Amino acid sequence: MNSSSPIGIFDSGMGGLTVAHAVSHLLPDEQLIYFGDSAHLPYGDKSAATIQAYSIKICDVLLEKGCKVILIACNSASAAAYELIKAYVGSKALVINVIDPVVAYVVSKYAQQRIGLIGTKQTVGSGVYEYQIKVKDASIEIGSLATPLLVPMIEEGFHSNEISEAIIEEYLKSDKLDDIKALILGCTHYPLIKKQVGKFYTQDTEVIDSSEIVAAALYQLLEKNNLLAHKRSLPNEFLVSDITPSFEAATVLFFGVKVPLTLHKLWE
Ligand code: DGL
Repeated sequence: MNSSSPIGIFDSGMGGLTVAHAVSHLLPDEQLIYFGDSAHLPYGDKSAATIQAYSIKICDVLLEKGCKVILIACNSASAAAYELIKAYVGSKALVINVIDPVVAYVVSKYAQQRIGLIGTKQTVGSGVYEYQIKVKDASIEIGSLATPLLVPMIEEGFHSNEISEAIIEEYLKSDKLDDIKALILGCTHYPLIKKQVGKFYTQDTEVIDSSEIVAAALYQLLEKNNLLAHKRSLPNEFLVSDITPSFEAATVLFFGVKVPLTLHKLWE
């Protein structure tokens, strides 16, 4: 790998595009290779073993393409497969997940306060956010809630209508999320409903969207390893394990134009 090698980013579907978009904004000279595992979406209600198997297959694709870093732009895969991916990838590429940068951010800002987390069943059930935060600062209290209806809703393009607002409100009024100073959007799909989530909180509760925090952490990682690209020669690539209209629509939403998608099945 060298500085002109691409950055590999993956998620179960379109959610990781929120991170890819932030990365392309902060690091416009980098070539991105995005893999959306739309054939196996959602990851959030699958077992850790299944998510690990998908993640390793995707890493093979990204390594084959010569990626210098693999960004796991999915909280569920970060929770279930980060350690395995790191061991598997070894010295072939750097690996970064979407949880650690957010943990660092929360720890730097919310000592002795109560914060909330919403995410998939996998992410919330793994307890990884609580564990990582408590190890660094035991004074922070965390209330977590799995919100499994949100990913299918977002993938269906239900962002701001009566149904999506009712579902979001029903989740957010859970007593697990009472009296919080900040809410972690612990799923990379959720920045797409950040505005709707923000509407629920009248007093000053910060809605933490990981995309920019993760993009900044990626910048630092590349800089530290002397791997920042200086000029992009090749266009970004978007690979999907199933071509779906919702994924195509999402690329328009983020990148302003219809992005050509390449079908790449993980298993024939
Ligand atoms: N966007 C992903 C996450 O951050 C995956 C959601 C899913 O596929 O359930 O967890």
